[in-house]
Amino acid sequence: MTDHVTTEQDQGVLIVRLNRADKKNALTADMYTVMADAIERAGTDRAIKTLLYTGSEGVFTAGNDLHDFLDNPPSGPQSPVNRFIANMVSTDVPIVAAVDGVAVGIGTTMLLHFDQVFATDRARFSLPFINLGLVPEAGSSLLLVEACGYRKAAELLMLGEPFTAQQALEYGIVSRLCAPDELMERALAAAHSLAAKPRDALRATKRLLRRPAEPLSRRVLAEGELFARGLESPAAKEAMSAFFEKRAPNFKQFD
Ligand code: COA
Repeated sequence: MTDHVTTEQDQGVLIVRLNRADKKNALTADMYTVMADAIERAGTDRAIKTLLYTGSEGVFTAGNDLHDFLDNPPSGPQSPVNRFIANMVSTDVPIVAAVDGVAVGIGTTMLLHFDQVFATDRARFSLPFINLGLVPEAGSSLLLVEACGYRKAAELLMLGEPFTAQQALEYGIVSRLCAPDELMERALAAAHSLAAKPRDALRATKRLLRRPAEPLSRRVLAEGELFARGLESPAAKEAMSAFFEKRAPNFKQFD
């Protein structure tokens, strides 16, 4: 459909790479379709345990393609951009990102949905919606407040000024900073570590982390039910046998 996004499978990790560097990886409807499909595929293909989104050297993405935006404005939940956003919201598959260079608009807001975000120290972020006469998207008016508090979120979304990788780390948008030449190695290592975990417990952990706010007592009950179910699982039995037999657990047998 488009070669502006490529996908490649690597030991349980589906790597989704933006590949339109001449246009700063600006995202078209076709590109969103591939990005949305990747999440659906990871949800059903047992060979995939983790997703890794990355861009090109020196550019993550300049956000929505502004030409495409005007020519094909997103309409309805089945539009490619809305499918991508809905899939990020609903998936329990862990997602890692490797970010180098500019991350504009949805290039920054998609990171709020991901589980581990590696960025180079030269990455630059911005949420310029206000400067385009637009409002925050992809749930960022909620997720950014959760990440860094109202005061900072209001500054970033109301002024729309770019910010550095160090600031993104402080604001809770980025997990780790690294040098450009070690970005993919570190992000891929994190994705492989996630892919080696017991699948059901990993996905249940993400679902718990993503549950909406609720009374603590209700959350404790929900965890308790899952914990009890986890104790009965083959993965927990394997982990405990491995402990007593002084060997590494093998969770791959349950993939
Ligand atoms: N939509 C469509 N085309 C885009 C684009 C976008 N969001 N961002 C960049 N491009 C295109 C440029 O038009 C240019 O195309 P050309 O070579 O045919 O003229 C090419 O990508 C390179 O962009 P350029 O602006 O020359 O690169 P830069 O390094 O000077 O600046 C940015 C990079 C990302 C800071 C700048 O391109 C920019 O601000 N883009 C718009 C970002 C935006 O508003 N996104 C929407 C958020 S909702």
